[in-house]
Amino acid sequence: SFYPVIPAGGSGTRLWPLSRQVEPKFLHRLGADHRSLMQLTLARLEPLAPAAQTFIVCGANHREAIMRQVPKVPVGNLIVEPAGRNSGPAIALAAAIIEQLDPEAVMGSFAADHLISYGEAFRDAIRTAIDVAQTGRLVTVAVTPTRPETGYGYIESGEPLGIGDALDVVRFKEKPDAATAEKYVASGRFFWNAGMFVWRVADLMEQLREQAPEIAERVQQVADLWVRDYEGALAKLDEVWVDMPSISIDHAVVEGTAAQGKLATVPADMGWSDIGDWDTIAEMGTHEGSRLEQPKETLLIDSPGSFATSGTGRAVTVIGVPDVVVVETKTAILVVKRDEAQRVKEAVEEWKARG
Ligand code: GDD
Ligand code: MG
Repeated sequence: SFYPVIPAGGSGTRLWPLSRQVEPKFLHRLGADHRSLMQLTLARLEPLAPAAQTFIVCGANHREAIMRQVPKVPVGNLIVEPAGRNSGPAIALAAAIIEQLDPEAVMGSFAADHLISYGEAFRDAIRTAIDVAQTGRLVTVAVTPTRPETGYGYIESGEPLGIGDALDVVRFKEKPDAATAEKYVASGRFFWNAGMFVWRVADLMEQLREQAPEIAERVQQVADLWVRDYEGALAKLDEVWVDMPSISIDHAVVEGTAAQGKLATVPADMGWSDIGDWDTIAEMGTHEGSRLEQPKETLLIDSPGSFATSGTGRAVTVIGVPDVVVVETKTAILVVKRDEAQRVKEAVEEWKARG
């Protein structure tokens, strides 16, 4: 059967002051209905698999907040890492544990911090991906690129596989440089990787043993204990994580699997966006038919293109200022022009430097 996994870690600085260590972006309630990206992610997956079968890999500092936000996910399904080691080890650990519970399992990995407008289109793509995974392939989900973004993975698609809309993958390139990204987008043959993966856990473990044995061995040691000696497993986890390599799943296995001709992709027109910076959020919050409504505690008068959040319930008000983002939290207030949203990183460094 199908087991969703949500790796939730990494620390984005571009969404400061929301994405602080204590308050990462996936936990913050951004939209008008006050659901966080984590809650939206789980809700989107529930028609595919019960929450009781969903696993979350997170850091210890986010465990409590996640338990509170998604109480339907059993506490035993929260896999708590001793430290962030990027997505590769996190996803590998979940796969190894799920394999102990169900050797035939197909798992899907879904980022905690994406917005998807069309849930049914997403689920159709995942259903197709599950069918393809049953044939022994590793499967990604593809979206049409709109700009030469260098922060994404690129998928060069090949022939249809005859299962739904699934395509063979000729090449997978994670985070190309700017010139390469431009070339890819101009060619019209490339998709963006949406950061979702579907595979049989046994197939992923085999790829890891081949391409990243230092990860495979360590997570296997933990998983072997997980069911029969949980306390022992946690102690082993602390031990093996000390010198666990830090690497993304894309670099650790996905690129190499494509080179072996064992990667497939399912293109999906699902209104996907990766919440990268405040400009993206404002974009979603200010457009007609927007997926992210302005929260009720905010008031914008004659401020087209602007977006505000109120993290405390205080009445955040903007009058006559177009194209700005105002973010209010208990500990910080940010006002930034939308087209300078990337510079939030500078502020984070400066505040850090000041202690
Ligand atoms: N538990 C845990 N621990 N999760 C982590 C860690 C970690 O140390 N690091 C990252 N993650 C989680 C993130 O929370 C996210 O859900 C997922 O793994 C992907 O990590 P990102 O750091 O957000 O990756 P990315 O955005 O640079 O790139 C990925 O997503 C792009 C699309 O948004 C890649 O898959 C790209 O190919 C893809 O285009
Ligand atoms: Mg990301």
